[in-house]
Amino acid sequence: MSLNQNIKPKTFCIKNNQAYIGGCCLSELVKEYGTPLYVYDEDTIRDICADYRESFKGYSNVSLMFASKAFMTKAIAAIMQSEGFGLDVVSGGEIYTAYKAGFDMSKALFNGNNKSLDEIELALKVGVGRFSVDNFYEIENLGKISNNQNKKIDILLRITPGIECHTHEYIQTGHLDSKFGFDLTQLSDAISAIKKYPNLVLHGLHAHLGSQIFETQVYKDAVHVILEQFAKIKNDFGIELSEMNIGGGLGITYTSDDEPPAISKIADLIIDAIKENCEKYSLKLPKLFLEPGRSIVGTSGVAIYKVGSSKQVPNGKKYVALDGGMADNPRPSMYQAKYSAIVANKAEEAPCETVTLAGRFCESGDIIIKDIALPKLESGDLVCVFNTGAYGYSMSSNYNRVLKPTVVLVKSGQSDIIIKGETYDDLISHDVIPARLKD
Ligand code: LLP
Repeated sequence: MSLNQNIKPKTFCIKNNQAYIGGCCLSELVKEYGTPLYVYDEDTIRDICADYRESFKGYSNVSLMFASKAFMTKAIAAIMQSEGFGLDVVSGGEIYTAYKAGFDMSKALFNGNNKSLDEIELALKVGVGRFSVDNFYEIENLGKISNNQNKKIDILLRITPGIECHTHEYIQTGHLDSKFGFDLTQLSDAISAIKKYPNLVLHGLHAHLGSQIFETQVYKDAVHVILEQFAKIKNDFGIELSEMNIGGGLGITYTSDDEPPAISKIADLIIDAIKENCEKYSLKLPKLFLEPGRSIVGTSGVAIYKVGSSKQVPNGKKYVALDGGMADNPRPSMYQAKYSAIVANKAEEAPCETVTLAGRFCESGDIIIKDIALPKLESGDLVCVFNTGAYGYSMSSNYNRVLKPTVVLVKSGQSDIIIKGETYDDLISHDVIPARLKD
């Protein structure tokens, strides 16, 4: 059993009708920090990191990285560093955050389909260890920069492995008609293009299949596709690649309908597939990179909202409005994502009515959870939505000019702010009124 198979964080418990995480009573956290409040359980994050390490222990040459797009802040970079993880970064902002947190940037891989020249310069300046090259335009950009700076740049080539996984269409990436990576038919041309730039050092191939994946076979297929290409490249170019990155994607349990595999199951399967294919194609065992995001931080995070108004539609639904929604967690409105929740201050009470938890934003689609059975809700109650640790805060916005919430990290009864909640002054701090409008 891995924690990605849990709905609740590892340290979740109930005492006297109150929900606790990391030894902290959620109602007390709300008194201190207000709502909406994002709470991350440090033990859950560290336990999952340990699970990944333990599960891949059977493969001696492995580098685990955290996909920072799932949730990035300086404290998370510090935790990943102490867990021995590298980072998958996709923007100047993620690079800068990790760098400023004192992260060892040689363990960072710069991904993305349209890295800007400024971002590439920043990555080189702070010593990002690898670039995953996504397209021909990028080979040229990196090649020219490596020439101009007379600097070696270590790269992987991102391929589209042509594997469909059954997840939401917007979060599939490995299928053929994808905006990411080289089609397998373009790989030879890509390698020829790289060979024109002596400072580009090609180490291996990178594939990412998609996100919130429950199937195991797709990982096996991806290993096969990657190593088949290794054999082809060895044959056609005499280059024996030494690194493969199989991406992230392992799913988590948002509701009891979700059944993601345990981390160890995926690990065993990937390791076996690498050994089998290397034997088949007479290849040396490559260094394996993984870059999971959601499965590392998803389960550790919850969002706590306060109940405000409610509306009973005559002969219809009962809507209960919370004080957050699509700006702090756009996933329900973007992907029809489903979540589980409890009432944090009525944690032992049995459900007695089915309600729809609505967000506070000015869109009918701003629904946090449709038709959930909960104890009787009254204004001031605290709803705790589970599994908001990944792609919640990281995709948040200031829609409706609503402030971004506070994020705290809890452990052993202690809570620490890791992202301060915004103030109205923060909100307007980048606004400028041109002088000509002031008269
Ligand atoms: N590597 C690459 C190249 C990726 O594009 C991604 C995610 C990951 C790793 C990490 O995947 P994970 O282990 O987190 O599934 N916003 C969407 C998810 C988008 C995923 C984007 N790429 C959501 O909220 O479901």
